[in-house]
Amino acid sequence: MQLLLAVLALAYVAPSTEDSHWCYEIQAKEPNSHCVGPDQWPGNCKENQQSPINIVTAKAKSNPRLTPFIFVGYDKKKQWQIKNTQHSVEMTLGGGMCIIGGDLPARYEAIQLHLHWSEMSDKGSEHSIDGKHFAMEMHIVHKKMASSSKGQDSDKLAVLGFMVEVGTKTNKGFQPLVEALSRISKPHTNSTVTECSLQDMLPPSDKLHSYFRYQGSLTTPTCDETVIWTVFKEPIKIHKDQFLEFSKNVYYDKDQKLNMKDNVRPLQPLGKRQVFKSHAPGQLLPLPLPTLLVPTLTCLVASFLQ
Ligand SMILES: *[C@@H]1O[C@H](CO)[C@@H](O)[C@H](O)[C@H]1NC(C)=O
Ligand SMILES: [Zn+2]
Repeated sequence: MQLLLAVLALAYVAPSTEDSHWCYEIQAKEPNSHCVGPDQWPGNCKENQQSPINIVTAKAKSNPRLTPFIFVGYDKKKQWQIKNTQHSVEMTLGGGMCIIGGDLPARYEAIQLHLHWSEMSDKGSEHSIDGKHFAMEMHIVHKKMASSSKGQDSDKLAVLGFMVEVGTKTNKGFQPLVEALSRISKPHTNSTVTECSLQDMLPPSDKLHSYFRYQGSLTTPTCDETVIWTVFKEPIKIHKDQFLEFSKNVYYDKDQKLNMKDNVRPLQPLGKRQVFKSHAPGQLLPLPLPTLLVPTLTCLVASFLQ
């Protein structure tokens, strides 16, 4: 009996945030899973400026400072390193790619991109727009570059969120990533994509003037509230078959028993926060000065322009 009690006591130790790994709902629901699902995620995940959120377009406040971004180095073609992080598929970026403008307080350098998806075309995105979820959501994570304003943590990262919609047309720019998926089926494996650029994967930049902005968090533990979020209105469009390659080829576990899908954090309350939107499409804007300088801009020089 005493032994039994001891065993029970051991088994009953509350899941420690150090020992038990966090996971998505679909993994937590598996029989014999010992991971920590979204309602018990550790760190800052219970704070009140969390992501993702549902964006109610009618309540988003127009902000004329939300000008179009300048995407520096996004046209650079490279065989990017790609890996299965056990929670997502992540492409390592870095090296001379940054965003300028869009009312960000500094330049932000691109570090990595990753995706969230489902196998159903109406539930793979983390954010929703007027209650609608998309098939996938792509996040390009950017880190604040050196700037004079110090000490503030809430603007450490700028994440660009792109909705992905499925259709009947193959997206050639997305294909290198799709083809790499079968080479990173197991967690913690890596590969490279055939040469491509971020620009190839995104909608044309003239369609990226409309976006939403709010202050939020990482959507994975430890859910740090350090993210300036930008969610673009224009979705990336890929073929249904390209979309299905994700849930078909990538796995959460090394035994390849659980396909990676629904790697999506549930929606979080907006609370007291305000969502902003960039100018209405079609509205005439004065040409922002930096646009004139684009060809000469790099991420590293000319920070005095900020
Ligand atoms: C990629 O995988 C190889 C083989 O497992 C490993 O040696 C290497 O460190 C990995 N590279 C990265 C950047 O994770
Ligand atoms: Zn993400």
